[in-house]
Amino acid sequence: MPNTTPTYRIAPSLLSADFARLGDELKAVIAGGADWIHFDVMDNHYVPNLTFGPMVCQALKPHCVRADGSAVPIDVHLMVQPVDALAAAFADAGADLISFHPEASGHVHRSVQAIKAKGCKAGLVFNPATPLDVLDWTIDDIDLILIMSVNPGFGGQSFIDSALRKVEQARKRIEASGRDIRLEVDGGIKIDNIRRVADAGADTFVAGSAIFGKPDYRAVMDAMRAALKD
Ligand code: DX5
Ligand code: ZN
Repeated sequence: MPNTTPTYRIAPSLLSADFARLGDELKAVIAGGADWIHFDVMDNHYVPNLTFGPMVCQALKPHCVRADGSAVPIDVHLMVQPVDALAAAFADAGADLISFHPEASGHVHRSVQAIKAKGCKAGLVFNPATPLDVLDWTIDDIDLILIMSVNPGFGGQSFIDSALRKVEQARKRIEASGRDIRLEVDGGIKIDNIRRVADAGADTFVAGSAIFGKPDYRAVMDAMRAALKD
């Protein structure tokens, strides 16, 4: 674990928002204190579900701003295969960070470079049964590691505990690299387990159903931050 307290970030996933009121939901989680907006892109091919594409990202982008005028980064999680064309389209649509699953790209290094060439930060996503080996050859090039603590495709699933061991391993790799890389965890994060995930080494937390499933989004995020301080 690092000696200094990490800067924690909470990234609400719009997957659990009311899609009939998507813009209002976005504004409500930003008003409630969202650090990033997590945007789950599913293609009904790599995962058995279908969500939203670059046009929706582009429509939401102008609203990703706090009351003080600061921008809220859009954290695009691509669950699509192939990767490159959609990654480019999301970069053009205003994404700030774009992550993809290495299994879904024929040429992982090339996909990372293509995302960075568009001016976005690049991340790699690891499913519950995917080892971290690809980091041997990519950690010097990426900005984000996203550990899945559920199988991708749906919100509201239960946290898979073995993800904690993987988060610990990813944290060790980040420290060995000496680079500034965010370590994000996605799936089943709640007020009552976020601290365990942080203690394993995560600094960024995706939460969908935990936030959008409650009426007061700020209250949930405040409770998560309080758990991170204890
Ligand atoms: C799952 C998505 C997650 C999802 C998490 O494929 O990547 O981002 O929204 O939802 P919860 O927080 O409900 O597990
Ligand atoms: Zn996600």
